[in-house]
Formats: sequence, C-alpha cells, structure tokens
Amino acid sequence: MSGTEELSAAFRGRFGTEPACYRAPGRVNLIGEHTDYNDGFVMPAAIEYEARVAAAPRRDTRVRLVSRNTGDSTEFDLADPDPRPRKDWSDYARGTALMLERAGYAISGADIMLDSSVPIGSGLSSSAAFEVVIGYALLSLAGIAVDTVELAKLGQKAENEFVGMRCGIMDQFISANGAVGHALMIDCRSLETRKVPIDSRARIVVANSMVHHAHAGGEYNKRRVSCEQGVALLAPALETDIKALRDVTPEMLEAHKALLPEETYRRCRHIVTENVRVLNAAEALAKGNLGAFGALMDASHLSMRDDYEISCAEIDRLVEIARVQPGVFGSRMTGGGFGGSTVSLVAAEAVEDFTSATRDAYFAATGHRAEVFACSPQAGVGPLAC
Ligand code: GLA
Repeated sequence: MSGTEELSAAFRGRFGTEPACYRAPGRVNLIGEHTDYNDGFVMPAAIEYEARVAAAPRRDTRVRLVSRNTGDSTEFDLADPDPRPRKDWSDYARGTALMLERAGYAISGADIMLDSSVPIGSGLSSSAAFEVVIGYALLSLAGIAVDTVELAKLGQKAENEFVGMRCGIMDQFISANGAVGHALMIDCRSLETRKVPIDSRARIVVANSMVHHAHAGGEYNKRRVSCEQGVALLAPALETDIKALRDVTPEMLEAHKALLPEETYRRCRHIVTENVRVLNAAEALAKGNLGAFGALMDASHLSMRDDYEISCAEIDRLVEIARVQPGVFGSRMTGGGFGGSTVSLVAAEAVEDFTSATRDAYFAATGHRAEVFACSPQAGVGPLAC
C-alpha cells in the first residue's frame, strides 16, 4: 500500500467514513533569510517532505483531528465564540480554521487524520505545511475553490495572530504555490513571483542537523523587533519614504549607521545585504553561473552567523563540512535558524559522495546523525488520490 492508501485505510478504521486526501509540501529556502517580513526577496522551493491529510466533512461544527505521527488526537468546535491557543499542535489547525472563518469562508466541521513526513524542528516548515493542507482541506470539503495566495496569507495570519509567531509569508506561500523543477523568487511586498529553474548540472541538497534550540521562537520575534527599530530610527533621516528595510540600500544604511545601536545596525545590515544577494542569485542562476550562486549562498551564511546571529555551532559545522567537499558550489543555513537544516548546491555527479562524506564528518564532529538528501522542487498544495 502507498502512504496515502494506508492513511485513508487508517481514516476509515478510525472514523468509519470515506475520506478525500490532500497534501502540502515543506520547503527549503535557497537564499533570502528573514527578508520576508521586511517586504524583501526570498527564493524557496517546495520539497518532497509533505503533510498529508485524509478528511471528511461533518454535519456539525466539530473538527476532530488525529495525528498518525504521534497517535495524538484532539478536537475543537468552530462554533466556540472565544477560541484560545492551547500551545500544542492543534493551534495550527485551529488558527487556520479561525482565519478562514474570519475571512468569510463558510467552512463546516470535519474529521481529519494527519500524516506528515516533514520533520518537526528541521527548519523545513512542518507547521506551514500543516496549516496549508488543513486550510486547503477545509475549503475543499466545503466545496469552495481555493485561491492559493489567499490561503498562504491566512496561514501566515494564523501563525501571527493565533499561534503568536510573527513569521513572514515565505513558508506558507511556497507550500501553497510551489512549482515542479523550480525555485520561486518571491517579492514579499507585491507577492509577485518569478520561477527560477534549477540547473540540471546541480542538485539542491538538504542536511538536517537534527538539533533545534528551544529559544528559536522568542529569538525570531526579537529579530523582527530589531528590524522595526531600524526602520523607525532610519526613516526620519532619509529623504525617501521607507516603510520597511526593503526600501533601504546597503549604501543608505552605511551612510546612517551612526543612528543605530551597534546590534540593530548589524541586524539591518544582514537584511539589506541579503536582499541584494537574492536578486544577484536569481540573475546568476538565470545565466547558469552556479559558482556565483554558490558564493552568494556562502556570503548569506556568514551574514546570518555574524550579523543576524541566528546560526549555532552544529549548523556552522555542517556548513564548514559541506563547503570543503568536491563539487560544492555553496552552502548555508536554511530557515528560521538556531538549528534545523542547511542547504547546499552540489554538482549532480558529486551528490552521492557528498551525502555520505557530510554525514560521516558531521557525526565525527558532533555525535549527531544528520539526514542528508538531494531534493527536487515539487508542486504546491493539492488533492491526492486516496
Ligand atoms: C521562518 C519563518 C519565515 C521566514 C524564515 C526565515 O521559516 O516562518 O517566514 O522568516 O523563518 O527566512
């Protein structure tokens, strides 16, 4: 039986009704980290790891959820007049359902079984995949055509306003709108996208460090505050109107660095230089210049490590190990930070050796067993045959 057949069989066994099935992928970000909530540029791709659900509508307003990953089950009622976060996995589903309702969608109750292959804490967007698949399922069960850009916005809103994580739009957007064989360069202000084909001479290789530092959520929100502080301090001194760090060039920042506390300056420097790197990276890939793309990935990592301070010892190690392997164009941390995964661009013929050498060297250095795998960009959210 395929994974989906097992999931639908388990659903029938549990709920006794016939489900429909849906999937939404996790993602890897090639370059452009923490730029999304600064109205900037990012370049993620959807990957093979995905959240799947089997789901059937109910006649009432209850949503019953079962996770095949953990065996946990939970439920909530859409009619609850005062839903509160419970600080567990149900919040992503509850938050998404709430935002759909607030946006005016007439969804009804449902029985839902989740099976996700996106590792939690891997920096590969397990929560965005969950939100997007839940939103897609609830809309589809209600017979509502899904606007995948709107769905991404509502998933982000669920995180921001219900879960309490002030994330940007990147993860939900790529999970909802991924394109086979392509990364997407997303302008997070206009939400315009450009499909960036992945050069067939290279592969995207993800390495999950298997570490995730617990303070990640709080530190993430703190970084966002630093960016807002930077904008507030720079705006009065600049001749042009700035709404976000997207509107600040590296030259403008340098000219006015005296206005900022040292740490805020470094946080802003990461963002403004990262935006330039994403634009240059898209250009490099379009020209087939893999060396230039890799150098930008390397520079991005240093900027995250030293200016934005979102890396950690294990991730730095993994990046150092990756970079010295034959056939590697570049390597960097991917995702929110403080653990999670790295992404490397590796010559297609070198991938096999890269994978095993990186695993071995990382184990020898840290005692952790990294999961290292090459991935191919996948489509965004959609239905699955059950
Ligand atoms: C997390 C957030 C995204 C983005 C990345 C960093 O994955 O959910 O919105 O900010 O971190 O690039």
